[in-house]
Amino acid sequence: MKFGQPSQTALAAAFHRAAHQVLERGRIFSDPLALRILGEDAESIARKAEERPSGRRMRLFIAVRTRFAEDALAAAFESGVRQVVVLGAGLDTYACRNPFGERLRVFEVDHPATQAWKRQLFQDAAIPLPSALTLVPVDFERETLAAPLAAAGFDRTQQTFFTWLGVVPYLRQEAVWSTLAFIASLPSGAHVVFDYSDPPESLSPERRAVYERRARRVAGLGEAWITYFETSQLHAKLAALGFGEIEDLGPIQIASRYFPGRAGSVPDKGGHVIRATTNKSRSRGVEK
Ligand SMILES: C[S@@+](CC[C@H](N)C(=O)[O-])C[C@H]1O[C@@H](n2cnc3c(N)ncnc32)[C@H](O)[C@@H]1O
Repeated sequence: MKFGQPSQTALAAAFHRAAHQVLERGRIFSDPLALRILGEDAESIARKAEERPSGRRMRLFIAVRTRFAEDALAAAFESGVRQVVVLGAGLDTYACRNPFGERLRVFEVDHPATQAWKRQLFQDAAIPLPSALTLVPVDFERETLAAPLAAAGFDRTQQTFFTWLGVVPYLRQEAVWSTLAFIASLPSGAHVVFDYSDPPESLSPERRAVYERRARRVAGLGEAWITYFETSQLHAKLAALGFGEIEDLGPIQIASRYFPGRAGSVPDKGGHVIRATTNKSRSRGVEK
């Protein structure tokens, strides 16, 4: 990220969610605040999205990853989770749509510059930040999560759900594994949902060309994609950290779950969204 500046890719992700509300009527992921936080009307969002039709695939992937994360969080709430940490929250609006109100504490962790900008955008849109939300400024590349979260009132003894959407590709592997190790270390167990991409060299030539164009664009914004995972290696390392339950949707599984009809024409490499749960959460069972 450019020093001291809010994340431009956070704005791009928020734009895709808003465009999904207009162009696909929020079919995969419905967010009534997605347009409001951008302060733009449906026509201007639709016009901008249609100027770049190649953005459709990314728009749908962002809708899928957010839907997958929020569905998994709802299931975790049913099984007793009362604390969620949204890592690299960007302009995510979950905290303001939280269907569980005060019963689910929300911590949003993000780069300080992005967080200050988000506060301003929400204020401009007259969307109040709820009392169940605590903002925790952290730079993942320079700090570990434990101390800032503890200072913000995070209870490390409670089973916790983490979402980490659209962030892992921008971080060095060391920063990714340090955060996953922290999550795995929580004594009462944890769940994490994040997204990642197969290494570019594993993509088909056509997908790789699209990927290279996008990669150049985000690098130009000062937020280059630098981390990829090969699925079996990622799963093995997660298992070694103590994540015993892993649900990983690659392009084929995403298509069959969210776009049934189109599953036949989908490549096997590309973006993934993954949920990993530590063994400690599973052995603790339900706590209401
Ligand atoms: C592509 S945006 C995704 C935002 C949001 N999760 C979403 O899905 O819309 C990437 C987010 O990662 C955050 N980020 C990137 N590098 C970071 C770092 N080193 N420390 C903290 N946050 C970081 C940015 O501030 C931004 O909010």
